[in-house]
Amino acid sequence: MQPFTEHNATDIVVASLAESGSERFRQIMTSAISHLHAIVREVEPTTAEWMTAIDFLTRTGQICDEKRQEFILLSDVLGVSMLVDAVNHRRPSGATESTVLGPFHVPDAPASPVGANISHGPGGEPVLVRGTVYDTDGRPIGGATLDVWQTSADGFYDVQDDRQAPMNLRGVFRTNEDGRFWFRTIKPASYPIPTDGPVGEILAAMGRSEMRPAHIHFIVGAPGHESVTTHLFVEGDPYLESDAVFGVKETLIAPFTKRDDPGQAADLQIGNPFYLLEWDFGLARIGDAG
Ligand code: BEZ
Ligand code: FE
Repeated sequence: MQPFTEHNATDIVVASLAESGSERFRQIMTSAISHLHAIVREVEPTTAEWMTAIDFLTRTGQICDEKRQEFILLSDVLGVSMLVDAVNHRRPSGATESTVLGPFHVPDAPASPVGANISHGPGGEPVLVRGTVYDTDGRPIGGATLDVWQTSADGFYDVQDDRQAPMNLRGVFRTNEDGRFWFRTIKPASYPIPTDGPVGEILAAMGRSEMRPAHIHFIVGAPGHESVTTHLFVEGDPYLESDAVFGVKETLIAPFTKRDDPGQAADLQIGNPFYLLEWDFGLARIGDAG
């Protein structure tokens, strides 16, 4: 029997996979084992440090339940979620860039007619969002869906906040035959990701901000096209450079233009003053995306 030493440890463990699962499983496990062993060789953790890591992962699992997913949050703050997204969505030019889904999407948000107001209080500065969904050749896509969700003016999603009605600040819109959509809402706020668990500890230990810049979430899709999970970030937000989950992309920063025009506000059935967010989305055809 070959002795297990610090020099041959990786070869022995990788060789033990010879009879395992599929080729893809073997590829993933070989890589995971090799990188883990490389960390140990590079860092030479003490036994106490290794137990601290085990304890951290144990507590990360223990805080998870059907509402709380601390492992996804860990993946988010370490930039892994955005990296997985990047290698899976190499989009052709003209297609809207993607970013993280986040934990606050609710699958069955109500279908809303174009023009609907998704804000049912309390408070907030009115925003009219309007634009067109195009394909990458610039042709408008009628019947595209936009699943929208966002925080209240003080930075809470409905599922976190007893003061909001269920499904507040959520809606699913469908573009008209010209590919156009519009809806009324309020300006979202920047907010902290949950910090009362192990991920909060590691963020603090890294000296990092827990804040996400204000944004509106979208999942935009149409038959025959790759749907895109994305955000529009509020231009000028102080946390754009330090998003706790690395979700900001330059192409997703959107101007919310302030309008003080009682006549236009009355026409649009929105409070005055209000913000106008004009934004077009681009969808790649299935097969064109990387
Ligand atoms: C969000 O935008 O809703 C979000 C994304 C990642 C982690 C926490 C929140
Ligand atoms: Fe969010």
